[in-house]
Amino acid sequence: MASSIPVRPLIDPFQRSISYLRVSVTDRCNLRCVYCMPEQGVPFVPHQEILTLEEIARIIRVAAGMGLRRVRLTGGEPLVRKGIVNLVRWIGQTPGIEDISLTTNAMLLPSCAHELATAGLRRVNVSLDTLRPERFRQITRRGDLPAVMAGIAAARAAGLSPVKLNVVVMRQVNDDEIVEIARTTQGEDWQVRFIELMPFMEEQETCIRDTSLVPGFVPSQEVKRQIEGALGPLEPAETNTGGGPARYYRLPGARGLIGFISPLSEAQFCATCNRMRLTADGKIRPCLLTDQEVDMKQTLRQGGSDDDLRQRILAALDSKPDAHHLGDGNRPRQRRMAQIGG
Ligand code: 5AD
Ligand code: SF4
Repeated sequence: MASSIPVRPLIDPFQRSISYLRVSVTDRCNLRCVYCMPEQGVPFVPHQEILTLEEIARIIRVAAGMGLRRVRLTGGEPLVRKGIVNLVRWIGQTPGIEDISLTTNAMLLPSCAHELATAGLRRVNVSLDTLRPERFRQITRRGDLPAVMAGIAAARAAGLSPVKLNVVVMRQVNDDEIVEIARTTQGEDWQVRFIELMPFMEEQETCIRDTSLVPGFVPSQEVKRQIEGALGPLEPAETNTGGGPARYYRLPGARGLIGFISPLSEAQFCATCNRMRLTADGKIRPCLLTDQEVDMKQTLRQGGSDDDLRQRILAALDSKPDAHHLGDGNRPRQRRMAQIGG
């Protein structure tokens, strides 16, 4: 059916091309990372308020017709959502979509990596803040490091490549492990990405109450300095996977890469932003760190046409802020990280 509104390309008011959607498929998680969720009493969104897989697939199909090219599934933990393999398959069959990836804690990957790859998943990012089993249990409150390692092995065996490891660097939590973690890239062909801790205040306050861990901010420059101090100069490296915000380097002769994601310390971080987010309860969130959102669920559930959905997507695009403005005191207050998916 011909569209009655012109299909405008996905260019935002600041001339950024938005070809990437991160889709949170659930706000639930099998872990409770200290910087992400409180230990107990997490108020999950009721099932009927969560988009169905069909609704998610429809939004992606409509957006793909407008220029969306890449999709990442996140959570909470995306692998706790029933039917996730079907969703991957549907997205893979959507004309225009060129890349499907997944951000996971990898606990459930051993049982489904192969199925996911067969359904069309290309690669995974695994959240892994420490290589010490005891500490992993402390940070995630219920995680099991050997299970995560088995998950990473399963991803590789299934051909999900490259594997990227997300390490949120936290003072007094894991900043003594930076060099050790960086060193693993000498022998492993994975990409370790050190991420600056972003201020989701409620979690950070909860964790001050609930645990002895108080995650503190460490700028990427300091992480890089530590690595170079111990292991020698990092060589800038190019990658063609993802087009994301990480700046990559390599230790001389290493198989893997080391990346830095610096949303706070890098002044130009937002200037090349290429993404929007879809929350599990059906809102497009143009910026991770800004509470501005556009609802899609009502349009979907009140019999809205594809044109209606396109209008909503354009409304989200047009409201995308130029930057997160954390430096001017802006803070995300309406949602936890687990309700957005990072
Ligand atoms: N700051 C930075 N990264 C975070 N993540 C979760 N919470 C935060 C935070 N406050 C990371 C997770 C995961 C990714 C989706 O986001 O470790 O890898
Ligand atoms: Fe779960 Fe990821 Fe949040 Fe940890 S950071 S509790 S793995 S959603």
